[in-house]
Amino acid sequence: TGTNATGIPQPVSTTCMACHGMTGISPSGSMFPDLAGQWSPYLVKQLNNFRSHTRADPMAKAIMWGMAASLTPAQVQQVANYFSTQTPPKAKMANAKLAAEGKKIYEGGISNLHVPACMACHGPTGLGDPPYFPRLAGQRRAYVELQLHYFKKGLRTNDPHAIMRYVASRLTAPQITELATYVRSL
Ligand code: HEM
Ligand code: HEM
Repeated sequence: TGTNATGIPQPVSTTCMACHGMTGISPSGSMFPDLAGQWSPYLVKQLNNFRSHTRADPMAKAIMWGMAASLTPAQVQQVANYFSTQTPPKAKMANAKLAAEGKKIYEGGISNLHVPACMACHGPTGLGDPPYFPRLAGQRRAYVELQLHYFKKGLRTNDPHAIMRYVASRLTAPQITELATYVRSL
């Protein structure tokens, strides 16, 4: 479990940084998730889910299965601790109108469809709640959209109690865009 001279875990400096950035901020305009400031237990769970193939959506299969397989269990813990302690992504407002629509669902749910408010689990400002509920604040729009579509289609099935599949199945594509725009602005 080596680190280089600046304290960056060896897998990060040789591999992960290509897509997730040296400090967990992915290249601008990319759909790779920002990992900086994400809760360590959530990162460990995802890496273990990639390793056991229980997170089996198309991008997981195509890219992250191989990446996660190359880590030892000690390195899984090491990279999760490292990314969780990096400075989280900065809020970015792309479209205030879309974000305002997203905020309504995020904070109020959709009562006639029995969609719970996102903030019940992900927190009023998207900070999440360890160990189970990931941070969403500042996360990349394209990544959040992709994951919500994966849950909606039943392609990502590693969510405990199928809660995210339930929620996303009741969202329309425009609502998914609004929510992704909103969480990026948090
Ligand atoms: C997702 C870690 C290397 C592309 C993730 C996630 C973690 C992670 C924890 C899940 C994030 C979340 O659920 O919010 C790592 C580590 C790496 C690594 C520790 C080095 C060992 C890479 C590389 C690429 C990449 C090199 C690009 C070639 C992706 C993509 C996703 C992802 C596309 C989303 C997968 C999906 O949609 O299911 N990564 N990653 N990662 N990573 Fe990596
Ligand atoms: C994961 C969004 C409501 C519990 C996620 C992810 C997104 C998301 C984008 C994936 C994060 C990542 O890959 O980094 C939303 C939105 C919601 C919502 C927009 C409202 C429409 C909820 C609610 C709960 C919940 C109400 C709890 C009852 C979870 C859990 C995970 C998760 C446990 C982690 C799944 C795993 O372990 O892989 N959510 N969420 N979410 N969400 Fe939600």
